[in-house]
Amino acid sequence: MADRQAHLKHRARQVNRLRWVRKYRNVARGEGNADRWTALRYVLTDPELDTYSYELANSAELAAELVAIIGQDAERILALFDEAEGDPVLAARIRRGTRGDLAVKRRPDIGRHLVTYAIVRSLKPPAVLEIGVRFGLGSLVILRALERNRDEGGPDGTLVSVDIDPFAGSMVDPSTANWSFTAGPSPDVLPRAVGDHRIGLVICDSIPQPWATTAEVRVALERAAEPLVVMQSGWNMVLPDICDAAGVEWRRIVEQPTRHIGAGRQAFLARFDSPSEVNRALAVIERAPNGMRG
Ligand SMILES: C[S@@+](CC[C@H](N)C(=O)[O-])C[C@H]1O[C@@H](n2cnc3c(N)ncnc32)[C@H](O)[C@@H]1O
Repeated sequence: MADRQAHLKHRARQVNRLRWVRKYRNVARGEGNADRWTALRYVLTDPELDTYSYELANSAELAAELVAIIGQDAERILALFDEAEGDPVLAARIRRGTRGDLAVKRRPDIGRHLVTYAIVRSLKPPAVLEIGVRFGLGSLVILRALERNRDEGGPDGTLVSVDIDPFAGSMVDPSTANWSFTAGPSPDVLPRAVGDHRIGLVICDSIPQPWATTAEVRVALERAAEPLVVMQSGWNMVLPDICDAAGVEWRRIVEQPTRHIGAGRQAFLARFDSPSEVNRALAVIERAPNGMRG
């Protein structure tokens, strides 16, 4: 039954471009900074109803905010953003991944994924855990960052992707090396999906319910590499609450898209450098076993 529902949803996405009323409503919310023509083009032709792809308008501001998390200066972080945006190999993979799929843009901008790219390139994690995948644009970007790390003599990093939708990650060639995809609700499937991997970056972008975010953060902490960066979408306060109680610094970022009808992603980030920070955070979660207040 669940599979049938997922299949129907997947088929329905192929006609998202024709869902003009829903898209008009998205524009009417007035969240973005698009001019009239961009908004009209969006309503008429765009397949994205949520989780927009966009170019970043505030990269310098984001880079400055990320210095404490990444441990690189802002110029180096901006150079990594440029590296991803100018990468012909990544661009070709994205074009291949979107070919023939009406549910996705042919050439989506990768602004939403530049922060994770810079983190992966800087910290060279042994494994990245991506919870909430959608079409897999972020997965392609992370996989390319891991590949470049490897090519430069860094670790042979892996991407572990998890999504409740068995059709998620459709942009990624399933035979891609160092990539695993597990379908299922995150709290249930995470331990099996992660296995023995040591997680250096986790991106919690599945559902807003605090109990789910708590379960996702917990799995990453239990299998933390040194360091571990946790990135959580800004839809609840689970990560800031854990960090405040554990005495770990956290940051909030707000992405601003260039000429887009939607608002950019808001996220919280925290870096756990030592086992004692990780253990303090796990102890906080232990005291609220049914999930943080959020
Ligand atoms: C916001 S989208 C993810 C976007 C993606 N991270 C990106 O930036 O392109 C949320 C995704 O979470 C998935 N999802 C929803 N509930 C979930 C759950 N309980 N466990 C795992 N994934 C879930 C949805 O199928 C959807 O693909």
